[in-house]
Amino acid sequence: MSVFLGIDVGTSGTKTLAMQEDGAILASSTVEYPLDSPRPGWSEQNPEDWWTATQQGVAAVLHQGRLKPRDVKGIGLSGQMHGSVFLDKSHEVVRPALLWNDQRTAAECAEIEQRAGGRKALIKLVANPALTGFTAPKILWLRNHEPRNFERTVQVLLPKDFVRHRLTGEFATEVSDASGTLLLDVKGRRWSRKLLDRLDLDRSLLPAVYESEEVSGQLSTSGAAALGLWEGLPIVGGGGDQAAGAVGNGIVCKGIISATMGTSGVVFAHSDDVQIDPEGRVHTFCHAVRGKWHVMGVVLSAGGSLQWYRNQFGHAEVAAAGSMGVDPYELITAQAAQAPAGSEGLFFLPYLTGERTPHADPYARAAWIGLSLRHSKAHMARSVMEGATYAMRDCLEIIKGMGIPVKEIRLSGGGARSDFWRQMQADIYGQRVVTINAEEGPAYGVALLAAAGTGAYKNVVQACQATIRVVSKTAPKAASRRIYKARFPIYRKLYRSLQDDFRTIADQVGG
Ligand code: XUL
Repeated sequence: MSVFLGIDVGTSGTKTLAMQEDGAILASSTVEYPLDSPRPGWSEQNPEDWWTATQQGVAAVLHQGRLKPRDVKGIGLSGQMHGSVFLDKSHEVVRPALLWNDQRTAAECAEIEQRAGGRKALIKLVANPALTGFTAPKILWLRNHEPRNFERTVQVLLPKDFVRHRLTGEFATEVSDASGTLLLDVKGRRWSRKLLDRLDLDRSLLPAVYESEEVSGQLSTSGAAALGLWEGLPIVGGGGDQAAGAVGNGIVCKGIISATMGTSGVVFAHSDDVQIDPEGRVHTFCHAVRGKWHVMGVVLSAGGSLQWYRNQFGHAEVAAAGSMGVDPYELITAQAAQAPAGSEGLFFLPYLTGERTPHADPYARAAWIGLSLRHSKAHMARSVMEGATYAMRDCLEIIKGMGIPVKEIRLSGGGARSDFWRQMQADIYGQRVVTINAEEGPAYGVALLAAAGTGAYKNVVQACQATIRVVSKTAPKAASRRIYKARFPIYRKLYRSLQDDFRTIADQVGG
């Protein structure tokens, strides 16, 4: 038997999955851990928690799947992107890791732009503008605010690559996650010496860079003992959670796009060459497919907006769902379905936690606009779902505007599980949407990369073709599509009208 393990070091927990060579899932386990916010806007985790969760997760899937150590032929690693683990010369963690959603580095982003010779020059070097969540500003923050910790640091690793170091003893990463550090020459798929020089950072701080399906190291004696597996077991590069999730959705060739609605929403497009939005509204990163790239737009509160609605306004639905033994979202979407498409003029801007794409505005806030006596809870629920979906369309429009073909949109995440939301997505995107057989996301994607990288498949594209297939198709309905086509420009204009007011409000209430 040939089994491949996919390990995804996420923000709320680490998911470990055991996949058979033909793509069948044998076992899966998620081990959770806390997230610390020592100050407003700060977001940190203890890397040792990721390592403990990895060991527990692997033990759980070996047990659940009744697997013998030698059944496992390869491991792939995925993880939350952009985080920074600082290690000292004994390879101990210097301080808690700063995560992708940490917002403390606005001044360092400005410093990077200035040292790079401006925003345009920076985008030319590393394909992306400086965003507070990215890794490079975190390294500068450490140097500016905790100089003694910076002096002690000999290596900066991304979350999954810290786990790789514990498994193999190697300092290694791969191109997709490295792209989100802001230090990778995304076109050349290697560290940007130029930017490192301008930031006065030593290249030796960073690990070796591999392609995602390349073997980046073998399980060491101590790694094998920790996992109950065999010494020498190959570990492939793997991928940042978005690129890995895209592989898990089969987004490995031109024309296929994914729209994933979890807490955040991501629109992800494969690209055969480097395509950069000159305004930097979408990210351009290396893909986990050898020699390919991807473009992605990130909506910070997509499913998160409906979750907020459920928590604040859905108490009756949550209680009823409890007694009926159903998911509260089923009752909330059934209620939303009672309001007509377009919610009779009610709009919801989903910027509950600011926005990345297209506004890159941490001060943007959510709003209902257009309320009248006519509107009920049904309209409010529906407008929240519509607002989150308009935000996804915003990303899609930028991608289309860059000349990237959009032949098929694959839905995943919570937004793909409901018939109602699938139909709404088809109507708002104005295009047919499909779902696929695989629902396991990044852990599945890196298990496929491990299978490809250790020779079970010729490459990851072939691995996806052999395992992933379309299982449902939803076409837009003409009447709703017409309504949304007319409403989308209004949705877009509302942010522009309110942008300055959001900033004034943030100044008055302190962010
Ligand atoms: C991607 C991003 C998130 C994190 C956490 O740019 O910030 O997807 O990787 O999941």
